[in-house]
Amino acid sequence: MTTSSSPNAARVINYDADGYDYRHFWDGRDYEQWAETRVIRRLLQPLSTIDWMVDLGGGFGRNVPLYLRYASHVVLIDYSWTNLKNAEATLLPNGPNERVFLIRGNIYHLPFRDSAFDVGATIRVLHHLAATNEALAEMSRVIARNWLLDVPIKHHLLARAKAMAQGQSRQLNDWSPNSIGTPEEPFYNFHLDAIRTRLEEAGWSPRLVASVANFRRWERAVPRPARSLVRPVIYGAERVAQRAGRGWWGPAQFLWLSRGDRPAPSPGPTPAQSVPGINLWLAPPWNLLAPRLRCPRCAGDLVWAANAAACSTCQGTYARTGAIWDFVVE
Ligand SMILES: C[S@@+](CC[C@H](N)C(=O)[O-])C[C@H]1O[C@@H](n2cnc3c(N)ncnc32)[C@H](O)[C@@H]1O
Repeated sequence: MTTSSSPNAARVINYDADGYDYRHFWDGRDYEQWAETRVIRRLLQPLSTIDWMVDLGGGFGRNVPLYLRYASHVVLIDYSWTNLKNAEATLLPNGPNERVFLIRGNIYHLPFRDSAFDVGATIRVLHHLAATNEALAEMSRVIARNWLLDVPIKHHLLARAKAMAQGQSRQLNDWSPNSIGTPEEPFYNFHLDAIRTRLEEAGWSPRLVASVANFRRWERAVPRPARSLVRPVIYGAERVAQRAGRGWWGPAQFLWLSRGDRPAPSPGPTPAQSVPGINLWLAPPWNLLAPRLRCPRCAGDLVWAANAAACSTCQGTYARTGAIWDFVVE
């Protein structure tokens, strides 16, 4: 993986470089998937209705089938063509439909209107976002009600043990992010309080809901013949650690953010209204998606056709390839 530049923002990690296929990262990681699914279910199930949900940096749509159990419509946005094409192949094998929408875009310049979504999720993405505050503000702008945010922390148990052995504990307590990547492959982890405070300033009430996948790669430490015996112990321990380990055990800490005083999602004008006389009729399913989008470059209204959208203000154009709309601003 490498990075590519984006205007006025940090570089974006490039998951398409060198033929990388993120799906293979998940080979043999059933435990981690189970651990995440358990938390997501617990949080989404009690919500009475989710009309529109957004998966920010959703990759190849690993969690979209789960989100579809609770949400009427899911929009996945990601920068990577490879991931999006894989998402298209698995989530939309029969072509576009009215429940799943795929957008190529950059989290620093989202093509969505304010409060376009009831609920959002950002899982395993924050560690790549070097301009963290800008990214948090931009993601926050488009979510109205609830947001599940996976925060990679620098002060987890293993990091503390290592830092203590090296006499470097102090740097885990300050609020600056810790960079463990390269300019090509940015990888940060954070102090939880720094992220929490930033989100509170943006009007969210954060609740720390789980420490997730606390025994990663446990299979490596256990010989194959013993794994089926150990598995129930690990899964049981994960259930306990998800609650007891909040804020300190594992590197992945899930925040559930709420805000009650925002108006319900307010889609913009329908395409027909935005430019009278043009786009009087936009075919389904794009007529459902279009009112939630705006120009990622200038925030202007878009004029829609079946295969392209054009900004009525800055003349930016955004094309559709198959089921994927490309809203990356180069
Ligand atoms: C580790 S993967 C996680 C994917 C998915 N959330 C999951 O959990 O399976 C990180 C994803 O974030 C995407 N990403 C990173 N920076 C981004 C940015 N600035 N804008 C959009 N997507 C980004 C990458 O393309 C990649 O698909």
